[in-house]
Amino acid sequence: MIINKKAVIVDNYLRKAMFYKNARAGFQTFLRAVIKGKTGKVLLPAYIGWSSKEGSGVFDPVTEIGMDYVFYKMTDQLYIDAEDVKRCFKKNKIIVAVIIHYFGYVDPAYEDFVSAAHSAGAVVLEDEAHSMLSDIAGGVCGRLGDASIYSLHKLLPVDKGGVLLLNSGNKALASDIQCEAGDIFPYWEYDLFTIAQKRRENAVALAQMMQKIPDDVDILRPVMNDGIVPQTLPIIIKNVSRDRLYEVMNLRGYGVVSLYHTMIEQITKERFPDSHKLSRKIMNLPVHQDLGNEELRGLADCLKISLAGLKD
Ligand SMILES: Cc1ncc(COP(=O)(O)O)c(C=O)c1O
Repeated sequence: MIINKKAVIVDNYLRKAMFYKNARAGFQTFLRAVIKGKTGKVLLPAYIGWSSKEGSGVFDPVTEIGMDYVFYKMTDQLYIDAEDVKRCFKKNKIIVAVIIHYFGYVDPAYEDFVSAAHSAGAVVLEDEAHSMLSDIAGGVCGRLGDASIYSLHKLLPVDKGGVLLLNSGNKALASDIQCEAGDIFPYWEYDLFTIAQKRRENAVALAQMMQKIPDDVDILRPVMNDGIVPQTLPIIIKNVSRDRLYEVMNLRGYGVVSLYHTMIEQITKERFPDSHKLSRKIMNLPVHQDLGNEELRGLADCLKISLAGLKD
């Protein structure tokens, strides 16, 4: 047996990367390439939002190319409803199955979801708009599926940038997909390892501060497993109007968001009540790399005071 001095197998662990202006453009290019000459649907999680400013980063790429779709249920804690996934695969011809690693966290049903999709002959797209760092720095997602998308501006201080990564093993797809030239952004020039550590530390610290207001706030992901790198810390607002709290916090200078505050109209309240329930209560607190303990303490204090003010 011969052992080479250096690695020579060019597609060993290769992840072909293509750059776009945003993640949705990469997703749409992927969909176009996969559906060529095929009929079938894209399977999407029933927790997708919309805003008048941004549209829907997940759903617009699907409707713009006229692709048929079906949604699988998510629980009111934003976990995959595995039974509903099975039902969807049984009742529909799925050619692309999408899993979203919301806020950087990986669903316990990730492996099962991917193997159900592959057994049904579908390719899997991992939407890593929030979870690029759980993939690159944590290694906990982006490898079981066939492709992933990143949204650089959601984790790094840049105002645009999307990446589509094709995992090795999908050479046919790789030759069909064109890169949008000129958009290459060297995201590896940021110290992604340290950014990931900082985000994890911030999420742990902020979660601890939230424990002081347990009557008013639940943490949606109280456990952060190894490798998880949060994009934000998702919390549930229990006793006051989330919309009012959002307004007050932002007026006071604390940039919170609510992903997603409005479901796309195709995800109806009647069929997906749990998605709507969560959508009304969720708030996402920043844990990004620019924040230190002092800012986090300020944020937690502001949340506490704002909650108290709204209850009066
Ligand atoms: C889960 C998810 N996927 C994809 C996107 C699209 O990202 P981009 O704004 O880079 O197109 C977004 C945001 O809109 C998102 O929240």
